[in-house]
Amino acid sequence: MALPKSVSEQYKKLKSALHEHNYAYYVLDDPKISDRQYDQMYKDLISIEENYPELIGPDSPSQRVGGKPLDNFTKVTRAEKMMSLDNTYSKEELSDFHQRLLDQLGLEANSELEYVCEPKIDGLAIECIYENGIFSVGATRGDGWVGEDVSQNLKTLNSIPLQLRQGFNKQKLVVRGEVYIDKSDFIKLNQQRMQQQESLFKNPRNAAAGSLRLLDAKITAKRPLKAIFYHLMSDETLIGQTHAQNLEQLKQLGFPSHKDYSICKTINELFDVIELWKEKKESLPYEIDGLVIKVNQIKLQQEAGFTAKYPKWAIAYKYESEQAYTQILDVRFQVGRTGVLTPVADLQSIELGGTTVSKASLHNFEEIQRKDIRLNDFVWIEKAGEIIPKVMQVDLENRSKQVKKIKIPEKCPVCHSPVGKLFEEDVAVRCLNGFNCQAQLKESVRYFCSRQAFNIENIGPSLIDQLINYKKITNPGDLFALNVDDLKDLERMGEKSAQNVIHSITEAKKNITYAKVLTAIGIPLMGNVVAKLIAKETKSLKSLWERYVITDQLDQLEHIHGVGPKLIESIKKYFHQDYAKQLLQTLLDQGINPKDVQNQPEDTNPSFKDKIFCISGTLSVSRDQMKEKIESLGGKVNSSISSKTDYLLAGEKVGQNKLSAAQKYGTRIINEKNLQEMIQHS
Ligand code: IVH
Repeated sequence: MALPKSVSEQYKKLKSALHEHNYAYYVLDDPKISDRQYDQMYKDLISIEENYPELIGPDSPSQRVGGKPLDNFTKVTRAEKMMSLDNTYSKEELSDFHQRLLDQLGLEANSELEYVCEPKIDGLAIECIYENGIFSVGATRGDGWVGEDVSQNLKTLNSIPLQLRQGFNKQKLVVRGEVYIDKSDFIKLNQQRMQQQESLFKNPRNAAAGSLRLLDAKITAKRPLKAIFYHLMSDETLIGQTHAQNLEQLKQLGFPSHKDYSICKTINELFDVIELWKEKKESLPYEIDGLVIKVNQIKLQQEAGFTAKYPKWAIAYKYESEQAYTQILDVRFQVGRTGVLTPVADLQSIELGGTTVSKASLHNFEEIQRKDIRLNDFVWIEKAGEIIPKVMQVDLENRSKQVKKIKIPEKCPVCHSPVGKLFEEDVAVRCLNGFNCQAQLKESVRYFCSRQAFNIENIGPSLIDQLINYKKITNPGDLFALNVDDLKDLERMGEKSAQNVIHSITEAKKNITYAKVLTAIGIPLMGNVVAKLIAKETKSLKSLWERYVITDQLDQLEHIHGVGPKLIESIKKYFHQDYAKQLLQTLLDQGINPKDVQNQPEDTNPSFKDKIFCISGTLSVSRDQMKEKIESLGGKVNSSISSKTDYLLAGEKVGQNKLSAAQKYGTRIINEKNLQEMIQHS
């Protein structure tokens, strides 16, 4: 069919209108027509193309659907390496970076050096080449020099222009950016995959990478991929004098680029922006893993140059505690050693801070109610130092009709006995069945063996399970009555291992303190601090029983500073229980009645006496061990920093919040080496 001029003109108009509407939607975030109107225009274009296929060019919107599947990706070799970024988690290191740049560029502290701060989207880097204004090749980063040609796939992304906007038809133009998936699209994608029994993506980044590297671009076209561009490479006619101008130029050319960037003239302004984004990043539709800080002036960038891997003029600042967005699939209840039922959420697996997370603690019912957390809700989770992350907030905007309120169970999920509260006003709901509940027994035995208590080596979770399942022990005190014959026939045991276990138990018995026994036996509310006070006053387990419990004299302990009536009531209730009396009897029968109380005042060290410490980051020993050490020297350890805190003991990857709080309150920041010096020099 011959091509009438009117059709060719109508086609041209339609094509350019579709490009402009695409631009308004994806780049300006400001659509001028409805989706329906757009779809109608698109249909009109397709019907012309069906009749006059000779019109179809590489810049037609119809080219976004994906062609024939490929056998493999061809390689793209580039002349300018795609670099990665050096990164840091600390403001000190950022100051070092700034100083290094000033030194290298021979500038004063208050010089013209400026930075642009933009979000670091967690996706995968791409490079797109435009020839004569038309998209020609798009490739992944690969090793920097050689990437994979994923043009077919990239063309399916509406946010990547197939042609540059009017007037820009340079012979060659190169842009670099990031392909990513929004958090909510990621969840939807995984839900679809779950329904279709396909494997789930670990995080939005993996989903984006997997979707972009498909040999069948028709499938990529169905994935919710987006792109954003942050680097423009062209000749001087397009390149500005600053990175900020280039971001604007990218937008003019038709590329989505960061709008929400800040220009900082001093290191303090950078710190302020970092603080600002710490909160702001949670409200973004996509995941960012930090900020990218770049020298704004292109001339200074060129002067600073590159190392083999990184530009010297840019650095990524990464945030310490990371959040992730996922869904609550189920809520279970874990029974602790004193019977407390802790709600735990089973989550749609997601990557958080380098590990795959599939559960989060919900702490207690008050927290569930306060945060209005419901089954099937979409939530933000965060790792706050602990291994198990916390549910921070519910995404109420994304709450469906399928959500269900979480009910307090009426029975223990393990032993099925009725649950209750120790005190009416308590938040905690407990299983009141003591060691008759397998879960409480297991947790108690585990605690008995832990470092905080008897520190019994060679008894791991699987041995504990067997000891309980085969009824070798019915309360934790029975551990001390075990002999080699009881153990040697158990799974993964044998004469030698059994002897080792018995040896560990005998050793542990020798070293235990009365205060630790008091904490280990599982009296609700008995923490190790009050246990030390009570141990000092009551002298031994036997005397506690004889002089205070059976004579009903426990109220006498109320005069101890730090011991309240509730704890005393809890001790009374505890010793009322048959299982508790039995444990006490077993321990005494086994000769476990230590009288020695460690940490007498004479052990205290003047540099530590009454000093308040806070610990953050990873140390060479566990936090509990360090806490014990500081307390044994007369210091106190609190979990948060206030104006009263004397020292912040900072380990590796110390929390930014803790550092900022220490700076705010003028708390001295020390490391383990400094602490050692304090111990030695006083
Ligand atoms: S600039 C020479 N800017 O982070 C400049 N990268 O860890 C190198 N990324 O490979 C990159 N957002 O995939 C730059 N605003 C941004 C970025 C960004 C995300 C990614 C990119 C890069 C990686 C480096």
